[in-house]
Amino acid sequence: MSEHTRITRGNVDLSQDLDEIVYSRRTIRHYADKKIAPEVYEELISAAVQAPSACNRQEWRFLVVEDKRLLHWLFEQGGATFIDHVPQGILVLHVNRTDNKAYWDPVQSAAAAIMLLQLKAYALGIGSCWVCHLPPKREIRRKFNIPSYYDPIAFVTLGYWTREPARRPRKVAVKSLLAYNRFSFDEPPLPVFDMRVFLRLWARRLYYLLPWRKHLYPWVRKYEKKFYD
Ligand SMILES: Cc1cc2nc3c(=O)[nH]c(=O)nc-3n(C[C@H](O)[C@H](O)[C@H](O)COP(=O)(O)O)c2cc1C
Repeated sequence: MSEHTRITRGNVDLSQDLDEIVYSRRTIRHYADKKIAPEVYEELISAAVQAPSACNRQEWRFLVVEDKRLLHWLFEQGGATFIDHVPQGILVLHVNRTDNKAYWDPVQSAAAAIMLLQLKAYALGIGSCWVCHLPPKREIRRKFNIPSYYDPIAFVTLGYWTREPARRPRKVAVKSLLAYNRFSFDEPPLPVFDMRVFLRLWARRLYYLLPWRKHLYPWVRKYEKKFYD
């Protein structure tokens, strides 16, 4: 890295410290059965809300879920299987009123906050997983008493890790991800229509329309998307 991009405070090289956290954080889905203390949650959220937000609205809310029955409900109503085994997590909400539906800026604001939350958690020895495999938003709103003008954006599972995560290399080299001034990436175009995505989309829509979907779980679990590779 060139010299002029380095910022130091006293003896501390901020860029190096940041790299240590950014490059080491990995998603963790198995946790020790240990609760996170309220003051630690406050530290996490204090970091999360340093994120940029559209028009600086900062209209996010963070709902801690540590009641086992509620965690089970999130799984049972069609959320990711591993949610049933986590000690806690945070449901991240954002006001859904925006005039910029094209870029859906509330989601982007909440996503930025989630990223900072995950980095801060990592720095405190807490593993996390950003989860969007969740029951329908309307059902989550009803269950957690969330007003209609908030959208649940994601559930971030949290817990003290039992084993520090290993670094995992990224899939594509940085040079192939970077272009200047025009889209000049050397890659084959994706097909205009992807039958697999189409089928999954409709299967998902139908599945989440079924109020008794939990009874189908033994059959559908083999189709659950795994994000682990
Ligand atoms: C928008 C988003 C949604 C995700 N949803 C899920 C999910 O539903 N279930 C899950 O196990 N992981 C989920 N993940 C975590 C990813 O699987 C994980 O970040 C990815 O495998 C890369 O691993 P890493 O975070 O260790 O780099 C999600 C991540 C993002 C950013």
